[in-house]
Amino acid sequence: MKVNMVEAMFVNSWIRRFMQKYLEVPLFTKIGGLPKTKRVAEIGCGSGYGLRLLLDFYEPNVVHGFDIDEKMLNRASSFLAKEIMEHRVFLHNEDDSLSQLKSNKFSTVFFFGSLHHIPKWRLALNAASESVEEGGKMYLWEFYRPLTMNWFVKLFVHHPAEAAFSHSELGDELIKNKMDIIGRFNFLGLAGMYVVEKNTGKSPRNENLNSASSFTHNVNTRAKA
Ligand SMILES: C[S@@+](CC[C@H](N)C(=O)[O-])C[C@H]1O[C@@H](n2cnc3c(N)ncnc32)[C@H](O)[C@@H]1O
Repeated sequence: MKVNMVEAMFVNSWIRRFMQKYLEVPLFTKIGGLPKTKRVAEIGCGSGYGLRLLLDFYEPNVVHGFDIDEKMLNRASSFLAKEIMEHRVFLHNEDDSLSQLKSNKFSTVFFFGSLHHIPKWRLALNAASESVEEGGKMYLWEFYRPLTMNWFVKLFVHHPAEAAFSHSELGDELIKNKMDIIGRFNFLGLAGMYVVEKNTGKSPRNENLNSASSFTHNVNTRAKA
C-alpha cells in the first residue's frame, strides 16, 4: 500500500535519513554482520536513500530497488541517476504480491520499514524468503502493531490493519520460511530488527532482472538494458 502525504514527507525528511544512516544500517551490521553483496534487493526502496546507503556501506555489485509507488520511484530514479547509468542500481515497480521479486534470486534482501505496508505481509515475506539464495541473508527493520495501530499515529498515517504484527510474530514467520535468526533487536515492542540467513531449500530461478530495470523514468532510460 502506498504511503500517504504525511508519511511521504516523513520518509523523505532529514530525520528519516539520519535514522537510516546513523542508527539502522550500523545496527544491522552490528547484529547481523555484513550482507552478501553479489546481488542485493531492497523492498520498498522509496525515494532511494536506502539504496544509496547500501551502496556506500556495503559496496554490492548491484542493487535492485522495488517499490509500489511510481512517484517514489521517479524520485529514486533522479536521486540515483548516476548509479543507474553505471548499471549499479535497477528500479522496479512492484505490487503487493511482490510478483517482480518472485522470479528472481538475490544474495541479500533488505526491508527498511516497508513490510507493515503490505496487507498480505506473510505472502510477501514468503516471496522475499524464496528470492534469497541458499546461504543468503535478509535484513528487516520493522514497525510493530502497538505503533502502527496506535490511535494517535493513525490520525496522521495509514497502515493496513492486516499488516499489523508483533516482533515475535515476525520472528515466527521468518522461521516458518526456513530462515535462521542470526541477530535481532526489539525496541519496546514498537519497532525492531531481524537479520536472518537462508538455511535450506534449493529452487532454480532465472535471473531475468539481473541486468535491467523494469521501471524507467526519463532520466534513466539510457540505462535500460
Ligand atoms: C514507510 S515507507 C519506507 C520507505 C524507505 N524504505 C524508508 O525507510 O524510508 C514504505 C515504502 O514501502 C513501499 N511499499 C508499500 N507496499 C509495497 C509493495 N507491495 N512493494 C514494494 N514497496 C511497497 C511504499 O511505497 C513506501 O515507499
